[in-house]
Amino acid sequence: MSANKESWGSRIGLILAMAGNAVGLGNFLRFPMQAIQNGGGAFLIPYLVCFLIMGIPLLWIEWSMGRFGGRFGHHSTPFIVQEMDKKRKYWKYIGTFGIFTNIAVAAYYCYIESWTLSYVFHSLFGTFDGKSQSEVAQFFTDYINVSTTTSGIPYEAVVFYLICVSLNTYILSRGLQGGVEVAAKIGMPLLILFGIILAIRGITLGTSGAPEGCTDCDSFLGMNYLWEPKFDSLANPKVWLAAAGQIFFTLSVGMGTIHCYASYVRSKEDVALNAMSAGWMNGFVEIVLGASIVIPIAAGYLGLAWVKEKAGFSMAFQTMPYLFEQWGTFFSALAGMMWFGLLFFAGITSSLAMGTPWMGFMQDEFGWKREKAAWSFGLFTTVLGLPTVFFYNEGVFGEYDYWAGTVSLVVFAMAEVILFSWIFGLEKGWHEITMGADIQVPEFYRFIIKYITPMLLLVVFIASFCSPAGGDWGAAFAGLFNGQGWNLDNGSIIAQIMHKGLNEQIANTTDPATIA
Ligand code: PHE
Ligand code: NA
Repeated sequence: MSANKESWGSRIGLILAMAGNAVGLGNFLRFPMQAIQNGGGAFLIPYLVCFLIMGIPLLWIEWSMGRFGGRFGHHSTPFIVQEMDKKRKYWKYIGTFGIFTNIAVAAYYCYIESWTLSYVFHSLFGTFDGKSQSEVAQFFTDYINVSTTTSGIPYEAVVFYLICVSLNTYILSRGLQGGVEVAAKIGMPLLILFGIILAIRGITLGTSGAPEGCTDCDSFLGMNYLWEPKFDSLANPKVWLAAAGQIFFTLSVGMGTIHCYASYVRSKEDVALNAMSAGWMNGFVEIVLGASIVIPIAAGYLGLAWVKEKAGFSMAFQTMPYLFEQWGTFFSALAGMMWFGLLFFAGITSSLAMGTPWMGFMQDEFGWKREKAAWSFGLFTTVLGLPTVFFYNEGVFGEYDYWAGTVSLVVFAMAEVILFSWIFGLEKGWHEITMGADIQVPEFYRFIIKYITPMLLLVVFIASFCSPAGGDWGAAFAGLFNGQGWNLDNGSIIAQIMHKGLNEQIANTTDPATIA
């Protein structure tokens, strides 16, 4: 059926590649911000619940679907899902979600990845030495303002974007074992090493970095804020939605990426334990390392009040280099290299995963060679990605993240769960999950996979369709009865489709300029 005979070289290579797929910028940049915006430690409870009843089931489903499809020579979702339901011919079209979402996410994801690469060089070459905090922040503002030449390189952001996509393309063209697996074997151990070193620094910083007069400059306050559970948040649907969204993004489920990686798993090899290992490794990096670096270090030098007020997505770029400066020229270069290097490894092992579905599809169905498939991916990504580079400040980036990186994941996940549990059938599905398994999969997951996961997905989808203004569900329901009607949030899917208040929404989610 297909000339594509690739497979993973070793089990450790497979796990590292899968963990590399999951562990990404989401763990270090997205998670801490989601936690801060959703009540600090309050966030962890819905996060863990979603992990157990939605994340793990989806991992098992996607891994076993992928291995199943691979048995028939399929390495991309359109044909994997079609193989599971021969009767209805439309599955292959639904399956194209699992290719195009990846390319759309890769397009903007590679942009951030390229910042991290550029910042590795700027840290090593001392660009930030002696700069004040606002100068460091300004450097970033100028950097994404594409044509400004603060660094001396005109169009630096564009140059690094192209380097970054080319690097991805090159590694993809070396194939699964010779490219992706090698990148994971180098990148993941270094990422964990750098992460542990920085996390130890973050945790032990305490009050030793506090500038004179700062009373809440204490890294412990930052940690405590992230971890202290507030049980009343369990009643707030907004927090649940955010937790579900983070679980999706961080585990890379609902994208088709996992199916593709798993389609190269040999047919009798375990998926149940492998899926768990990759999932828990992602959780460890996110909860332990992701939470112990940015927030505690920022809280140590700038104070908890500052963090609560100003924390944002781009803190990693606008603030961290300045905080590292306090460690002296040598250690700041080293810390900058470790921090941005860690982000770069996290990013590239994820964007490589996003390239694989396209590769598999082109190789299987059109008989393309690896190289051709890889370069066409690079070209496609660049064409889609350049608008985010040139019009970052106009909100193009936010649009991509919303439609490709959020909505489409939930839609695809819903389709695949229904296919797996109800059409393919849970009996066969369960057999696929447990076949060759190196662990005993708990029986109650049968029930979860059949009823709870699909129901939860449906609830998440409907809720994000019509989430009310400010996430205030109580007021929205009351509004139904007191004549005010349902007051939609600008971020809800309906409002987005109608383009109501779009710009405000984008400004709220991805504005890098919110940090002074
Ligand atoms: N899971 C990755 C992260 O946390 C992002 C990703 C999504 C990677 C989808 C691959 C596919 O950053
Ligand atoms: Na992740």
